[in-house]
Amino acid sequence: MTQMSDPVAFPQDRSCPYHPPTAYRPLREERPMARMSLYDGRAVWAVTGHAAARELLSDPRLSSSPDRDGFPFPAARSREIRRRPAALLGVDDPKHNAQRRMLIPSFTLKRTAELRPRIQQTVDRLLDEMVAAGPGAELVGAFALPVPSMVICALLGVPYEDHEFFEAQSRRLLRGPGPEDVQEALDRLDAYLGELIERKRREPGEGLLDELIADRLATGETDREELVALATILLVAGHETTANMIALAAFTLLGHPEQLAQLRAEPALLPTAVEELMRFLSIADGMLRVAVADIEIAGVTVRAGDGLVFPTSVINRDAAVYEDPDALDWRRSPRHHIAFGFGIHQCLGQNLARAEMEIALGTLFTRLPGLRLAVPPESVPFKPGDTIQGLLELPVTW
Ligand code: HEM
Repeated sequence: MTQMSDPVAFPQDRSCPYHPPTAYRPLREERPMARMSLYDGRAVWAVTGHAAARELLSDPRLSSSPDRDGFPFPAARSREIRRRPAALLGVDDPKHNAQRRMLIPSFTLKRTAELRPRIQQTVDRLLDEMVAAGPGAELVGAFALPVPSMVICALLGVPYEDHEFFEAQSRRLLRGPGPEDVQEALDRLDAYLGELIERKRREPGEGLLDELIADRLATGETDREELVALATILLVAGHETTANMIALAAFTLLGHPEQLAQLRAEPALLPTAVEELMRFLSIADGMLRVAVADIEIAGVTVRAGDGLVFPTSVINRDAAVYEDPDALDWRRSPRHHIAFGFGIHQCLGQNLARAEMEIALGTLFTRLPGLRLAVPPESVPFKPGDTIQGLLELPVTW
């Protein structure tokens, strides 16, 4: 029985960039709760069932604070994050709630809808440049990364001219091999955003950071340190995740010509297709929590201090919720997936991310009907398992 064998190690590299790691296969037989082991050999709970995941992610007895004893670090380098004042994802209520409330007005459906024309302009301009320089491009660098990067800069009021700097820092933060990478990247982002905030205090501009300075910093509701931490998570989460989704979704569609043809024939399917791609790709494949009290769930007892990991690629393919879960199918209802998380930390930028994905993917495949891979699919390089999933490069032609 799987339960008697050694626990599967978390995290694992995928063998196909759009399927869960093959090493996670035994977990699918062990729903809703399984055991996994971390890089340092420590055993943690793996939440594998969809209903249990939603129940636990809304349970205040779970903490997402890396300061808590027992927090399940997926790699040695992530421990470095523990020494930082965290914002949003790394703090629990009530502090989390206070931080989130300051930001919610900027991320409503209405505010996001207002950004759509600007997103469309950005997408059009990038595709113009790509077409002028083509045929042939590396889609991550030429398109998938600049779209969300430009959008989050405009939203925050961060100068896009500095994108190479902060993209490099977030790469090191999320993927740098050692703890020193994380530390240095955070130091540099801190210094950069701290200086930007000082400059904006003297010469206010337009953007969310300027609004926060005027409405919350000036009133003492937040302080400079917290503002820097909020700006850091928004900047990093705002471009890295969406960029991965755009490129990986494009690659997945090219590998599923039938589904792509359906989408081209019926563009109204796009919003559902984006949702199904979110479920299918589950790029944030490992949310992390620690229990702060004993919890009874599905016949097991999670003890205070136990670590929990949520491999979303396994949870979002729970056959009890999704029929034929390994198929990419626009006809199903993919709603209730947890690819944007669930509970109090559910993705703040999800409306924005959806708008960016719809506009970017819809325009890309309409504008370039002959879009195809420029290399065999097996040679497209993708990211290791201990970070947000996605492609490192995507060489295409048309
Ligand atoms: C397709 C792209 C995206 C994916 C897959 C994604 C995924 C997620 C997930 C899974 C969480 C919850 C993590 C957890 O509970 O442990 C999360 C939280 C968060 N995301 Fe996203 N995200 C995306 C885009 C964005 C964008 C565009 C922004 C900002 C503009 C953003 C900002 C945030 C923030 C601030 C949080 C923390 C919320 C909190 O703790 O209250 N995300 N995201």
